[in-house]
Amino acid sequence: MKRCDIAAALASEEPRDEIVIKGWVRTRRDQKGFSFLELNDGSCLANIQAVVDEGSEGFERILEMNTGAAVGVTGALVPSPGKGQKWEIKARRVELIGPADAETYPLQKKRHTDEFLRSIAHLRPRTNKFGAMFRIRSETAFAIHDFFRGRGFINLHAPIITGSDCEGAGDMFRVTTLDLGQPLPKDAVEADFFGKESFLTVSGQLSAEVFALSHSKVYTFGPTFRAENSNTARHAAEFWMVEPEFAFGDLHDNMDLAEDCLKHCITHVRTHCAADVELFAKWVEPTLNAQLDAILARPFTRLPYGEAMEILAKCGKTFEHPVGWGKDLQTEHERYLAEEHFGGPVIVYDYPKEIKAFYMRQNDDGRSVAAMDVLVPRIGEIVGGSQREERLDVLERRIAELGLDPAGYWWYLELRTFGSAPHAGFGLGFERLLMLLTGVTNIRDVLPFPRTPKHLEF
Ligand code: 4AD
Ligand code: MG
Repeated sequence: MKRCDIAAALASEEPRDEIVIKGWVRTRRDQKGFSFLELNDGSCLANIQAVVDEGSEGFERILEMNTGAAVGVTGALVPSPGKGQKWEIKARRVELIGPADAETYPLQKKRHTDEFLRSIAHLRPRTNKFGAMFRIRSETAFAIHDFFRGRGFINLHAPIITGSDCEGAGDMFRVTTLDLGQPLPKDAVEADFFGKESFLTVSGQLSAEVFALSHSKVYTFGPTFRAENSNTARHAAEFWMVEPEFAFGDLHDNMDLAEDCLKHCITHVRTHCAADVELFAKWVEPTLNAQLDAILARPFTRLPYGEAMEILAKCGKTFEHPVGWGKDLQTEHERYLAEEHFGGPVIVYDYPKEIKAFYMRQNDDGRSVAAMDVLVPRIGEIVGGSQREERLDVLERRIAELGLDPAGYWWYLELRTFGSAPHAGFGLGFERLLMLLTGVTNIRDVLPFPRTPKHLEF
């Protein structure tokens, strides 16, 4: 007989004579002549209870069915007399599939710290909190695809190994097959696998721009890599980014898209992962629901960078980092604006060109570019994007000004030579979105296997 997910069993409309459940024991309680097993299989937050009496086949091994053991139960799905659960299983047969030692299994009943759980990344997803987290992560990925598909965007798989540095920030991981334990050959770059320098991508944007100028509306959603040595709670060396790119649109269309996308994901996840989100509202961030309601309730504030700087300069708060035209917004500034000043998401736009990447479209004032960052409470920047420079001469001048080698961008410049069109896009940090959705404050706790400086668990 086929195994039934616990989620499906608990959602059953009526009792069933025969059901097979397989999962891991969360707890076992023994009474005279029978035992209760609480099982979880990861399909939902809730456990299902199995009542196993001494007449059941396999009962002789019940004392080995400890917390953490994998077991199978066959029996009837019957109404549960216990409160809080609609159904339980009256077992006819139990099977110990994989034992777990009661003394050494690291996840016993007590609550564990996030730090400890990070050190056991192979067992962490078996806890309630991380079980919920990675169901939410999966559902949020679905919400992203659902949103863009619904708007006619084509999903593009951008390459992970690249020869170009999109952001020009230089914090890229190098890809090589050369043995670093050996002296490097002469002409190492030519001798290497691709015969040229190659890196892990920091962004799929440049590939997305190519396809925006053929398919009009595209998005990438994949892993990106940054070798920034910033050990913060918001940066990971490997993270996922959602990058829509569309032709025939401008910065304001871009803001609308980012706002709609965030709101769609919040609504979708609250609808489809209600119990999992509730866990975070109960145990992690008590104001989570109020915060998410507030984000959905009204349009995001839109604020030119210059005005943002004035607000920060006049607010009377002392910041660690200086403010003023030309200075980049730091997390402390972003959070002040989103949390304290506006009490909700803020889209800051028209940044000075000096602090933004080469590809952003220059504004008529000669000093700013059509860039935008979406800032949200608790996190700061969650989205960074821009309208791209579509004018060949302006782009060429900017590349020269920055001392970049135009030869490396020949194809990017050709896109401006043949059928150039206004286009725009953004990058949404997927982990930061998950932090927003759950109230979790450390990016390491929304990644299944976080990679940060000096940390790489298998
Ligand atoms: O602002 P960023 O650097 O923008 C780009 O890479 C553009 N090429 C995107 C585009 O226009 N297509 O990164 C975009 C977002 C940030 O707002 C942030 O949410 C996230 O990616 N991000 C990180 N998330 C986790 N760890 C890191 N180290 C991150 N760096 C950026
Ligand atoms: Mg950015």
